[in-house]
Amino acid sequence: MKISLFGAKGMLGSDLVNLAPKETRILSHDLETNITNLNTVEGALKADRPDGVINAVAFTNVDGAEKEPGEAFLVNGKGPEHLAVVCAELDIPLIQISTDFVFDGNRESLYTEEDRPTPLSKYGESKLAGETSARRWVKHYILRTSSLYGTGRDNHAARVLKAIKNKEKINVATDLFCSPTFTGDLARWIYQLIEKKPPYGTYHVCHTGFCSRYDFAARICELKNVDPSTILNPITMESLHLPARRPLHACLSMNKWEKQVGALLSWQDGLENYLSAL
Ligand SMILES: NC(=O)c1ccc[n+]([C@@H]2O[C@H](COP(=O)([O-])OP(=O)(O)OC[C@H]3O[C@@H](n4cnc5c(N)ncnc54)[C@H](OP(=O)(O)O)[C@@H]3O)[C@@H](O)[C@H]2O)c1
Repeated sequence: MKISLFGAKGMLGSDLVNLAPKETRILSHDLETNITNLNTVEGALKADRPDGVINAVAFTNVDGAEKEPGEAFLVNGKGPEHLAVVCAELDIPLIQISTDFVFDGNRESLYTEEDRPTPLSKYGESKLAGETSARRWVKHYILRTSSLYGTGRDNHAARVLKAIKNKEKINVATDLFCSPTFTGDLARWIYQLIEKKPPYGTYHVCHTGFCSRYDFAARICELKNVDPSTILNPITMESLHLPARRPLHACLSMNKWEKQVGALLSWQDGLENYLSAL
């Protein structure tokens, strides 16, 4: 099986490259294959002739998107449209990665795939535009995930480990809840989906359970035998005065995935897998 992977050098993309099953050949594309250019996408896919496409490209700077919404919409909205158009022309299934930030997080219960997205930020709006783009082609999977961390790039988990190493204190929010997801596990789950071929559509896929950013950071400290109070300074999201509003409780229900694709792991298991992978 041949898969064209866009965003291959990103945090998720690099784990998709490294963890591909033996029988899967990954045709990697990164910034040199700019998905905001339709001709570039068409040229790449006509040369690759893959059995499937994964789009792990994104403009992921949530605060940056408030200042540069045009660029965010181009990469996160228009890019998937180009992929969907060419995938439809060549009859190739498209996997589009999306985010819990399409929801406003203003409720305690879990969001299902049927709930109506109401994003709070330009980043969330641009990712929602990407979902609409992917739906232009019937053979699509939209995979919404949450708060990614991996071995490839800077992220919440890496920042806590750096603070432990440097013995410095960092501010961590106690009021933002999500299901932090290790990209190594997510990559393996995406390959499970490709193998299982469940019905096309939208799926939520994250580690199970949810926690605050503070709980997550505290668990890393505990696993490293460090007293959390020596490293973590509990704060609220509001006190950070960030340009973009974040959903405070955009926790996703993974029932559909677990029924159609397979069992997932808890966020605590994901953290242990990440520390082992480092
Ligand atoms: N990170 C999170 O917490 C999080 C949470 C939920 C969902 N997601 C979603 O998960 C997916 C993967 O995220 P990630 O954190 O792995 O992203 P990432 O590390 O930022 O990787 C994105 C990749 O896309 C490349 N790229 C940017 N603009 C491009 C363009 N116009 N054409 C081609 N490539 C381009 C980037 O290259 P350069 O870096 O060289 O610019 C980078 O290699 C995204 O869809 C994201 O929205 C992420």
